[in-house]
Amino acid sequence: MSERVLIAGCGNVGNALATRLLAEGCEVWGVRRNISALAEGIQPWRVDLTDPASLRSPPTPFDYVFYTASADRRDESSYRAIYVDGLRDLLQTLEAAGSPLKRVFFTSSTAVYGQQSGEWVDEQSATEPARFNGHILLEAEAIVRASGSGVVVRLSGIYGPGRTRLIEKVWNEEAEATQSWTNRIHVEDCGAVLYHLMRIEAPADVYIGSDDEPTTTAETVTWMSKQLGVATPAAVAATRANKRCHNTLLRSTGYRFIYSSFREGYTPIIEDFLRNRP
Ligand SMILES: NC(=O)c1ccc[n+]([C@@H]2O[C@H](COP(=O)([O-])OP(=O)(O)OC[C@H]3O[C@@H](n4cnc5c(N)ncnc54)[C@H](OP(=O)(O)O)[C@@H]3O)[C@@H](O)[C@H]2O)c1
Repeated sequence: MSERVLIAGCGNVGNALATRLLAEGCEVWGVRRNISALAEGIQPWRVDLTDPASLRSPPTPFDYVFYTASADRRDESSYRAIYVDGLRDLLQTLEAAGSPLKRVFFTSSTAVYGQQSGEWVDEQSATEPARFNGHILLEAEAIVRASGSGVVVRLSGIYGPGRTRLIEKVWNEEAEATQSWTNRIHVEDCGAVLYHLMRIEAPADVYIGSDDEPTTTAETVTWMSKQLGVATPAAVAATRANKRCHNTLLRSTGYRFIYSSFREGYTPIIEDFLRNRP
C-alpha cells in the first residue's frame, strides 16, 4: 500500500514537497482553507487549522505529517493560533483517529536564534530569541518533540519564483548595502530537504535548513544590482548584524542543495524578472 502523507498548511513549500512525494507514488493530502491552490494530484482536506471544529474526521489514517502552515499576520495571537494551538489540535485529532504516524515534521525557523553579532549557529546553539515569533516557534518545536517521532527543520529565509520583493527593491534603487548577515533557502530545496529527511532511517530531532552560503545583505544586493544593470546600492553600516547558519548536520545526512547559494537560486528569477519587467 502506498504511504499516506498529510501536508498541513500546504502552500509553496508543501506543494514543492508534494511534487516529489506524488512522483514516488505516495498518497498525498493537503490541508489549507483555499484548496483550489493545491498543486495537481494532491487530495484536498479543507480545514481551518485554527478552528478545532473544522478538524473533525480525518479523511484517512496518515503515515507521515508535515506541518508547514504559516501565520496570516505577524502578531502574537496569530502565531500562537497556527503554530501552537493548530499544531497541537491536529496531532491530537490524528492520534484520536488512530493514525499510525511514523513521523511528524515541522517547519520552524532560524528566528529561534537570538544571536545578533554575526556568530555562526548550529543545532546545538543557544535558542534565546529576542522576539515573540521565536518564542512561539520554540513552543511549537516542544510539541513536535513530545510527539515522540518529531523532526524539526529550522528554515532560513525562503525565496523562489514569485518572491521578488528584494529584486524589486534593488531594481527601484531603494536597497541598502548593509553588512548584516542573512541566510536563505530556495523553496525547491525546502521541499527536497523535507523529502530527503523523510527517507532517512534515524533522523536527528532538529536540523537547520539553510543553503551553503550565508551572505551579507551588501553582497547579495550588490550582486543583484549588477545582474539587473542598476546602480550599486549605497553602503550602510550594519544596523542589525545577524547570524550565520551552519548546515553541516543536514549535509552530513547526504543532502546536497539544488541551489547552493543565492546566486544559483536568484539567477533564473532575475532573468524572468527582466523578461517581464514593467
Ligand atoms: N517565509 C519564510 O521565509 C520562512 C522562514 C522560515 C520558516 N518558514 C516556515 O516555512 C513554512 C512554509 O512556508 P511557505 O513559504 O510554504 O508558506 P505559505 O506558502 O504561506 O504556505 C502556508 C500555507 O498555510 C496555509 N494556512 C495558513 N493558515 C491556515 C489555517 N488557519 N488553516 C489551514 N491552512 C492554513 C495557507 O493556505 P490557505 O491560506 O489557503 O489556508 C498557506 O498555503 C511555514 O511553516 C513557515 O512558517 C518560512
